[in-house]
Amino acid sequence: MKSVMNLSVEKIKKSRVSEVDFNNIPFGKFFADHMVEMDWHKGQWETCHIKPYQEIMLSPATSALHYGQAIFEGMKAYKTESGEVLLFRPDKNAARFNYSATRMAMPNVPEEQFVELILELLKMDRAWIPTGEDGALYIRPFMFATNTSVGVKIAEHYKFMIITCPVGKYYSKPVSVLVQDEYFRAFPGGTGAAKAAGNYGGTLFPAGEAAKEGYDQILWLDGVEKKYVQEIGTMNFFVSIDGELLTPPASDSILDGVTRMSVIDVLRDLGYEVTERDISIHEIAEAHKAGKLDAAFGTGTAATIAFIREIGYKGERLELPVFDENYVAYKVKDRLEGIKRGRYEDTYGWNVKV
Ligand SMILES: Cc1ncc(COP(=O)(O)O)c(C=O)c1O
Repeated sequence: MKSVMNLSVEKIKKSRVSEVDFNNIPFGKFFADHMVEMDWHKGQWETCHIKPYQEIMLSPATSALHYGQAIFEGMKAYKTESGEVLLFRPDKNAARFNYSATRMAMPNVPEEQFVELILELLKMDRAWIPTGEDGALYIRPFMFATNTSVGVKIAEHYKFMIITCPVGKYYSKPVSVLVQDEYFRAFPGGTGAAKAAGNYGGTLFPAGEAAKEGYDQILWLDGVEKKYVQEIGTMNFFVSIDGELLTPPASDSILDGVTRMSVIDVLRDLGYEVTERDISIHEIAEAHKAGKLDAAFGTGTAATIAFIREIGYKGERLELPVFDENYVAYKVKDRLEGIKRGRYEDTYGWNVKV
């Protein structure tokens, strides 16, 4: 690896891969044989270790646990029918990781190194990449502050790690989402566009309340006007009103999803018009009343394209039309997943071969 200056590699003595039932994989529970671990001290990255997946020891004073300097990424590697391994647009995740790092006052990981470490890990844990329609190896790079003192300040020490886990389907059926108008996830100037751990922690209480009402996810509104739809849990949001596809524009309050940007390109190439603009929840409710709410879907690495069957808003449940092969979300899912899995030609140059 040319861009990783000091790399030490220790291979596992006996792989654990035979312990996994690849026909029945729970999301995010079994981790592959190897992981990456690299520490930042005195203003630089130290030797990078690829080693057997194992626990790490931390001081109770580890500053990320107290003050939340912690960020992560999520991406997937796929095995094609011919056994080739493909990684989808890793440069975008590398760039977003560093956007998050800068926003959280953390050091950057050189983007080339970020991608090369993932490729190296995939070569070593190739046997962990599931085949089959929904299977993939989920890749989780993350970084957190490791100062061992209390006191709120920018840390001087950090740990960067990458772990991976085989995954299957995220949602087994179309989802229901609840519009949340009491709690907010992001606001201008905040950390909404960073993949900062605290962004997710803050959503868990309202998500738990929504789950009690039978909803799978929350559809978040903007934190200022409290009326513009932003995104869903871990997905960006698309809606089709009277034949026009709309999605909120990327901003400092919305995660700039890699799936979102790819879906916009694929939709346009499939002949759809896509407009990036603010969409108020009132517009969606009015469209539903007028019978013009054609479809809504979420886009994200983990869930791919999630069909939305229902939007809950102010005590009402807005039902969305039934899905068939003409359904726009079905078409874009088929095309995008097909590109990622080598079923369709990648005319965009998005896939990186491992
Ligand atoms: C808050 C949030 N929005 C949207 C997304 C979708 O982003 P991507 O398509 O890059 O996975 C994610 C997942 O990373 C997310 O956590």
